[in-house]
Amino acid sequence: MSDSKVAVVTAAAGAGIGSAIARRLASDGFDVVITDAHERRAGELAQELSDEHGRGFMAAALDVTDPEMVSAVMDRVASERGGLHVLVNNAGWSKIEPVAEMELETWRRCLDVDLNGTFYCMRYALPHMINSGGGSVVNISSIAGWEMTTEHGAAYSAAKAGVMALTRVAAAENGRHGIRVNAVAPGLIYNDFLKKIYPEEFFTGYVEQRSYVGRVGAPEDVSSLVSFLVGPESGYITGETYGVSGGVHPHA
Ligand SMILES: NC(=O)c1ccc[n+]([C@@H]2O[C@H](COP(=O)([O-])OP(=O)(O)OC[C@H]3O[C@@H](n4cnc5c(N)ncnc54)[C@H](O)[C@@H]3O)[C@@H](O)[C@H]2O)c1
Repeated sequence: MSDSKVAVVTAAAGAGIGSAIARRLASDGFDVVITDAHERRAGELAQELSDEHGRGFMAAALDVTDPEMVSAVMDRVASERGGLHVLVNNAGWSKIEPVAEMELETWRRCLDVDLNGTFYCMRYALPHMINSGGGSVVNISSIAGWEMTTEHGAAYSAAKAGVMALTRVAAAENGRHGIRVNAVAPGLIYNDFLKKIYPEEFFTGYVEQRSYVGRVGAPEDVSSLVSFLVGPESGYITGETYGVSGGVHPHA
């Protein structure tokens, strides 16, 4: 147990946004709990952060689509770390298939990871956050939840739009407990794994023709915004979804 505020990050052990958020919140002084469906990688990152910061970080296997597992992990975090103050719902999954041809399993899996998983984590973390005296939730959505496009697939777009709506209602419900709930909607945040999801054309000319800042996004572009949203300087902000897309999809 430590004096730091406790922050659970889901899907924190990959090569992208989740691990950048975990690293940033650890540097900000949070007692970060590294959770991921991939148990070994979660343990490795927790060890790396423990070595780097000279204090122990907890790792937990967590598949966000399993509500019993989510409930058990949130209970364990609150009892072993002495509370729960911050939740970052980063887990996401996508497969791009047109509606008229979509495998039912694609729809179900996408809604299950991206939307149900976000709900399960909030459902079982919020009571602990209330008991801990308040805190902040950040849900990682996507500009796919705003755009009219064939680029991301309907399952992913619908799930990420659902995350934005879930964010607003949860913010309205929990403000009185001192809990703020916001979402972040990234555009292209590059990691090599994306090549397995998106066709080559998606990346062609992206920097030259679509980004207004002359580059693709990096995971740290998202983690810096999450750091602000879970910190004390964003105390008047709740229920919002912030784009981080290099101007590809400004939302006003
Ligand atoms: N990368 C982008 O361009 C981009 C753009 C917009 C939104 N997003 C969203 O950002 C989030 C992070 O994406 P990323 O591409 O940076 O990947 P990431 O590296 O942060 O996440 C990958 C990790 O997710 C874990 N994971 C997969 N399924 C899981 C599950 N059911 N439960 C728990 N963990 C699971 C994997 O083990 C892996 O470690 C996702 O919600 C994604 O939809 C990403």
